[in-house]
Amino acid sequence: MVAYLKIAIASDHGGFALKESLKKHFGASVFTDFGTQSLDSVDYPDFAREVATRVASGTFARGILICGTGIGISIAANKIKGIRAALCHDVFTAEMARKHNDANILALGGRVLDEKTAIEITDVFLHTDFEGGRHQRRLDKISALET
Ligand code: RB5
Repeated sequence: MVAYLKIAIASDHGGFALKESLKKHFGASVFTDFGTQSLDSVDYPDFAREVATRVASGTFARGILICGTGIGISIAANKIKGIRAALCHDVFTAEMARKHNDANILALGGRVLDEKTAIEITDVFLHTDFEGGRHQRRLDKISALET
């Protein structure tokens, strides 16, 4: 349970509206917002880097990244060593992403999800613990794949 820690959040233009909705629902003070701050077209890898490098360094325990589909921004985030970014479209995958994968970044699709589902997914992601055990062994094998 990490809800007492600040969460790093960022989006591109396709995720901007959902980013603002999450800040409104959970409270802006829950997040440190690394942009974008408008609907003007930007490049999602730049925003993936802002959050993923800070989560990888331990400055933030968790991050949330949002683009139109969640695909591009999750691919970019997963290029950073130590990042396990999970693209979730429902509550079950968000729960498993934490329990089994110890995902440290939640990726969402602003053009895919309705606001209510996105809020539910985010809530589960922020309040579900990693189960460890056999899952840690698998994460160690993922780490071993990193160059
Ligand atoms: C931007 O138009 C869009 O490509 C981006 O938000 C995302 O969906 C990419 O995966």
